[in-house]
Amino acid sequence: MNKASITDYKYLEGTRVLLREDFNVPINKNGIISDDKKILEALPTIKFLIEKGAKVIIVSHLGRPKGKVDPEFTLEPVVEKLKEVLDMPILFEKELFSEHMQKMLRTMKNGDVMVLENIRFFKEEEENDEAFAKKLADLADIYCNDAFGTAHRAHASIAAITKYIPSYCGLLMAKEVEVFSNLLENPPRPFVVALGGAKVSDKIKLISNLIDKVDCLLIGGAMAYTFLKAQGYNVGASKVDESKIEYAKLLLEKAENKNVKMCLPIDHLAAKEFSFLADYDVCSSEHFPEDGIGMDIGPKTIKLYSKIISQAKTCYWNGPMGVYEYKRFSKGTRAVAKAMAGNPNQMVVGGGDSAAAVRSFGLENQFYFVSTGGGASLAMLEGEELPGIVNLKDKE
Ligand code: 3PG
Repeated sequence: MNKASITDYKYLEGTRVLLREDFNVPINKNGIISDDKKILEALPTIKFLIEKGAKVIIVSHLGRPKGKVDPEFTLEPVVEKLKEVLDMPILFEKELFSEHMQKMLRTMKNGDVMVLENIRFFKEEEENDEAFAKKLADLADIYCNDAFGTAHRAHASIAAITKYIPSYCGLLMAKEVEVFSNLLENPPRPFVVALGGAKVSDKIKLISNLIDKVDCLLIGGAMAYTFLKAQGYNVGASKVDESKIEYAKLLLEKAENKNVKMCLPIDHLAAKEFSFLADYDVCSSEHFPEDGIGMDIGPKTIKLYSKIISQAKTCYWNGPMGVYEYKRFSKGTRAVAKAMAGNPNQMVVGGGDSAAAVRSFGLENQFYFVSTGGGASLAMLEGEELPGIVNLKDKE
């Protein structure tokens, strides 16, 4: 990566570092973090800064509190988790820019860590407000962005801030960017991309950008039904994005013209209702029941997709193949995860639901790479310049 790394900065001892992390983790009603991957992946940069004797001021968002203080979105559970995994006291500042905060900043010692309360409690954050960004920049000597998961957002603590303070990238950011740059620039072949999830609209740009680069696209999840309908199949009562059918047709044609294999499910688990206990039929794409809802890819599709993935040298996967949260409709998603986990080559999982699925199947450690960025990895593969990366200092 051509951006300056925090490890390039020689004078960290006693330096105040404003560290942008993506601690946007799922937290249940009892304040329990159900997936702490983003926190654990942030540790190498935090530990590095502590060891070098920097004064670490961490900024993150959590959820979408719409620019207002909302206790539901406090970073307190994250602070508790950090205390546990770092095994040290962590300062937590709830009153940003207050007298109290200034005092805490003045008394911070080398190697101390302070977490600031959810930055999205300020509406200026999502507005990428310059004055607000400057106020944040004034809290520290240098800035480090390690929040790959939110690098696609042009927000004040990600984009505007870099105008006012020397800005470096963190260790996680560098690792994530390297993996996705390799996928785009020089993927060992065959390069297979497996896409699922609910909406075609979320993945259209990605398919358009990757169609010139991949050898095979595997489509699953609810988005498959829009493509199947575009091919003239009856998909019963399955979820279809009617407004995207014409575009789906264009993508199918484009894939054919480019000689890219675009695979759609050949069979399905079709249920009578959208429920975790729903009865279902296994049916082919040719014989989809009139009232059926496609809940998962069927056994023949599982076999086909698993075989293609097992032969890939590079594979990127984003989006579940079915309603994997419901056990009886999780086989397709599990099979894709298992096929990737069993392949020793460059198997990369986009963040979000697919990463959560991999974790829930207990397969994460068997992967070449599981990203912390769902939206960010998509944006990178769509060919976009990410505000959280492009504005960082270039390597000297
Ligand atoms: C994520 O979890 O995808 C990032 O933290 C970004 O969150 P956002 O979609 O609310 O901007």
